[in-house]
Amino acid sequence: MSTSTWTTDALTTERLTLRPWQVDDAQAALDVYGHAEVTRWLSPDMDRVPDLAAMRLLLQQWSAEGARFPAPAGRWAVQRNSDDRVVGGAVLLPLPPGNEDLEIGWQLRPDAWGNGYATETTYALARWAFSQNVHEIFAVVRPGNVRAAATVRKNGMHWVGETTKYFGVELQVFRLRTADLDPAAPTALRPPGGD
Ligand SMILES: CC(C)(COP(=O)(O)OP(=O)(O)OC[C@H]1O[C@@H](n2cnc3c(N)ncnc32)[C@H](O)[C@@H]1OP(=O)(O)O)[C@@H](O)C(=O)NCCC(=O)NCCS
Repeated sequence: MSTSTWTTDALTTERLTLRPWQVDDAQAALDVYGHAEVTRWLSPDMDRVPDLAAMRLLLQQWSAEGARFPAPAGRWAVQRNSDDRVVGGAVLLPLPPGNEDLEIGWQLRPDAWGNGYATETTYALARWAFSQNVHEIFAVVRPGNVRAAATVRKNGMHWVGETTKYFGVELQVFRLRTADLDPAAPTALRPPGGD
């Protein structure tokens, strides 16, 4: 990982802007992390955020935590360009215990599922990570999280295996390497001849 500091730069895709969370996003963030359908799949376990005050506190913690992790790690709000609405969050975070593997993760509000936003986010975050001297990123998926498993496979991530080493719970591990990036591109960005 590079030693540069936490990025505050936004990453822009065709339909989305990935930008740092702000405490003022608390309501929009609660619409994501206040949903048990979202938090039940997160690793490590994350309780559903119960109210606005708790969400504000969490956003403050995330902001403070940012200083601890060097780029390209980060937490981003995923904002839709067409209406500037926050549709979810995404992370690149070091996986414990070694903090060497970098996890990509997404949390979309359920009414935003099924639009390819996680796919578009993956491509943007992978390009960002690979531009920062990182050569592989990982997704860790709870068995039974069918949507997440579909997303990672669709994005060109490769099956690594199952492990309990990260958080003490069984997780399916997928990896995306630099050379896999083209298959992760949203269709419009793939080279000619790609499917
Ligand atoms: C996992 C999660 C991010 C996946 O969201 P998603 O919207 O299904 O993911 P994708 O971006 O891959 O979208 C794929 C769907 O969008 C559809 N889609 C529509 N337009 C699309 C486009 N332009 N490009 C790609 N897919 C598109 C696909 O057909 C597919 O639909 P389907 O699920 O009906 O087959 C979401 O379910 C979520 O937030 N879950 C809770 C938290 C979680 O589990 N996080 C992951 C932990 S590992």
